[in-house]
Amino acid sequence: MKQVETVAQLRQAVSRLAGETALVPTMGNLHQGHLALVRRARELAGQVVVSIFVNPMQFDREQDLRAYPRTLDEDLALLRNEGVDLVFTPAEKLVYPKSMAVHTRVEVPGISDIFCGKSRPGHFVGVSTIVCKLFNMVQPRIAVFGKKDYQQLLVIKRMVEDLAIPVELVGVDTVREEDGLAMSSRNNYLDARQRRIAPALYRALRSTADALEQGDKDFPALEQAAVERMASAGLQPDYFGIRRASDLGRPAVDEQELVILGAAFLGMARLIDNLEVRL
Ligand code: PAF
Repeated sequence: MKQVETVAQLRQAVSRLAGETALVPTMGNLHQGHLALVRRARELAGQVVVSIFVNPMQFDREQDLRAYPRTLDEDLALLRNEGVDLVFTPAEKLVYPKSMAVHTRVEVPGISDIFCGKSRPGHFVGVSTIVCKLFNMVQPRIAVFGKKDYQQLLVIKRMVEDLAIPVELVGVDTVREEDGLAMSSRNNYLDARQRRIAPALYRALRSTADALEQGDKDFPALEQAAVERMASAGLQPDYFGIRRASDLGRPAVDEQELVILGAAFLGMARLIDNLEVRL
């Protein structure tokens, strides 16, 4: 496995890779969820490139950026073990050589402004800008993202469509702990008591999905019940919504492809999760 830090090294290393390339963009602190993306990438393409970059542009709070776990040595060992071909670990100065304030931005309006985008202003501009830049740097044929960040995947899909970026996007199902908690680097922030509370988000999603599957179409009442359930379990709900799976628009009662999205604060962590429901 080769590790490169500059675009020149990256381009040279990519040009030496034979066959199709799949990119897995990450911010490091890798867990089983990331490794599932790497394995999917491996199934889809002969060459797997992983990027590790904690992107300051997508953090709305300086404290969150500073606290974000950085575990490069452990990450590289995991990726080596997965047989990854190339790892791109650019420094912040390389990605944002002037300053982020004067860097070109990629904005996907509408879908970036609701749910996580509303709670974290500017977050998705940061995500679409860095993903667009990584696509230009690596020039992969395929890029693999986790469906845990469902809204992020839709934002990137829209960006790829709107800007005619020649990359095929692949979403991979969320990897969960045994009690349903979605794997996330932010779970590291939870102490033992909070870790016991955290799966309440998944349970709220699951019981809403069950109600929908049993024919309940009162979306506002289901959302309200889920928020109350989360709060009584000890979470501080951020949002909970039942939406059209394709674009997060408000669903008609006969909509068949839905996604339920939830987010909640718990101590230092902000947990997000979602479930797709096909009726
Ligand atoms: O999902 C993430 O880890 C990040 O948002 C991404 C896609 C690597 C962009 O920084």
